[in-house]
Amino acid sequence: MVLPVKAYGHPTLRKVAEDIDKDYEGFSQLIDDMFETMYHTIGVGLAAPQINRSIRLFVVDISPYAEDYPELDGFKKVFINAQITERWGEEELFNEGCLSVPDIHEDVSRPTSIKIEYYDPEWNFHQEEYHGVAARVIQHEYDHLDGILFVDRLTSLRKTLLKKRLKDIAHGNISVKYRMIFPKVKKGKK
Ligand code: NI
Repeated sequence: MVLPVKAYGHPTLRKVAEDIDKDYEGFSQLIDDMFETMYHTIGVGLAAPQINRSIRLFVVDISPYAEDYPELDGFKKVFINAQITERWGEEELFNEGCLSVPDIHEDVSRPTSIKIEYYDPEWNFHQEEYHGVAARVIQHEYDHLDGILFVDRLTSLRKTLLKKRLKDIAHGNISVKYRMIFPKVKKGKK
């Protein structure tokens, strides 16, 4: 099932998400729904807070980048209870967008390499290093678990320039091809 995506301004996007355990209800259905939602919205990653679950879970499929980076072919993963334990390498700019912040794309500076610990859906523990685009997408999704959005990482000048557009998104004054929940739209009004 395709789930509605919470738009910028929604309080769940600002919470620090919590770990889950093996008994989390509807777990495998939730992961299926998150992938379905991510493919429907043409995203390369989706974090649980974006669909209103404040839990440390995100999914990525960065195989669309395989055209430029062949090593990313088939890179589809689920990260549960993830913790980034190290970040290193030079800060690099990369153009980012977010399903919760439609139509805004900005260069964001992040380190090139990370070490991350997480569980997969079979509850196997992993400790892995990622670099380049994979590290980029993972850091973006991971930020969602800590209540951080990519626009928070822009310079204050860029933030000022985007203020009105962000307000429009929160109020639903934007046309989006997928279903979204806009926090500042009153009930009963579209
Ligand atoms: Ni995002």
